[in-house]
Amino acid sequence: MNASRDFAHGRIELLVGNIVEQDVDAIVNAANTTLEGGGGVDGAIHRAAGPSLLEECLKLPQYEPGRRCPTGECRVTGGGNLKARYVIHAVGPVYNDRSAEKAREQLRQVHRNSLQAAAEHDCRSIAFPAISTGAYRFPIEEAAPIALGVVREFLEAPSSVQLVRFVLFSQPPFDAFEKALGKV
Ligand code: APR
Repeated sequence: MNASRDFAHGRIELLVGNIVEQDVDAIVNAANTTLEGGGGVDGAIHRAAGPSLLEECLKLPQYEPGRRCPTGECRVTGGGNLKARYVIHAVGPVYNDRSAEKAREQLRQVHRNSLQAAAEHDCRSIAFPAISTGAYRFPIEEAAPIALGVVREFLEAPSSVQLVRFVLFSQPPFDAFEKALGKV
């Protein structure tokens, strides 16, 4: 199941699959502020990339004891055993009703920062998971238009990035993204 839409300076693609299998220049990891791995996407990427990924993450500077990447930001490492040259470790917000607007802004920021990091590394293609929509409980119906809106805005200007792929883990999130892609 695939969907795609072309914009001024690139294409957005949606598919149901496993992000570790994507043959793209950069894979975005749904990480946490420690960059020491976890479950979900984080666990899958570290398992597929191999131990060199964690070794590289642990060398990154800490802004607080044990924390290497603030929410809304990202850090770039090599891809280890993955097909991708880079892993962009992106820390999305934990969603809660009391600070929903802040979480929405942080979700926009983390997508913008990840795209900028991909362009700075001269990447032609990048694969995103649905950041924050798992353990971080961001409602997929809200996250999809936010993520796609940032990518659409990014693709209105020229950069090295020609393909932005969202890899959804099952049909329901794919459907939410497909619906949003038609409206963005
Ligand atoms: N490929 C693509 N998508 C996946 C995969 C995979 N291999 N595994 C899970 N997903 C989907 C989930 O179904 C969800 O829709 O990615 C989305 C993000 O889920 P999480 O991985 O839980 O990420 P997030 O919600 O951002 O929570 C991040 O979870 O794993 C920990 O260390 C991580 O603390 C961090 C938190």
